[in-house]
Amino acid sequence: MEVFEAIYHRHSQKKVKPDALPRALIEKLLDAGVQAPNHYKVRPWRFVVLTGEARKKLGEVMAASQLDHHPEFPQEAFDKARVTPLQAPVVIAVGVDKPSEPKVLEIENVCAVAAACQNLLLAAQAMGLGAKWRTGEWARDVKVKEFLGFDTDQHVIAFIYVGYPEFIPEPVIRPSFRDRTLWME
Ligand SMILES: Cc1cc2nc3c(=O)[nH]c(=O)nc-3n(C[C@H](O)[C@H](O)[C@H](O)COP(=O)(O)O)c2cc1C
Repeated sequence: MEVFEAIYHRHSQKKVKPDALPRALIEKLLDAGVQAPNHYKVRPWRFVVLTGEARKKLGEVMAASQLDHHPEFPQEAFDKARVTPLQAPVVIAVGVDKPSEPKVLEIENVCAVAAACQNLLLAAQAMGLGAKWRTGEWARDVKVKEFLGFDTDQHVIAFIYVGYPEFIPEPVIRPSFRDRTLWME
């Protein structure tokens, strides 16, 4: 698929099939991810690929954490949190390394990892997969970070849900760049 086609046709795919993805396909997505630019070549991306039972465990952690923070929530909220990671056969949690030397800025590492996420989404689009970038309060949750093996002060910037699409939506026409652009000559 041509790059512009992937860019224009990419969309957040809410519904994907439960069918497992071959590991080779997941690796192809990750390989596309790590082609992203990154300052000082520090490769600040960390991926945790959750499939099968691991998604259930993540759901348990999410529900337990929600209970800690919002004990007033109705039972349905915890039930919903528990099954959230089961909405796709693959969930890729994406974390950012903290800079280990002064010349590398945290914001630059975050930018590099966001670029990796976008590469991954475009690769998914080109491969005919459905993907969605999600965050929510789970991305900032200490228990979730610990479960995933991240330091508690590390940024988790994405949970990328991927699977075979249930349907192919019509391409959307997005708002123009024009009201967001200043030309200086
Ligand atoms: C940093 C980031 C966080 C996001 N978090 C969520 C999320 O928690 N839940 C969600 O439904 N979508 C999330 N999205 C996806 C956006 O909602 C989506 O990109 C937007 O609605 C535009 O739709 P499109 O991707 O189809 O163009 C996130 C996107 C980004 C870049």
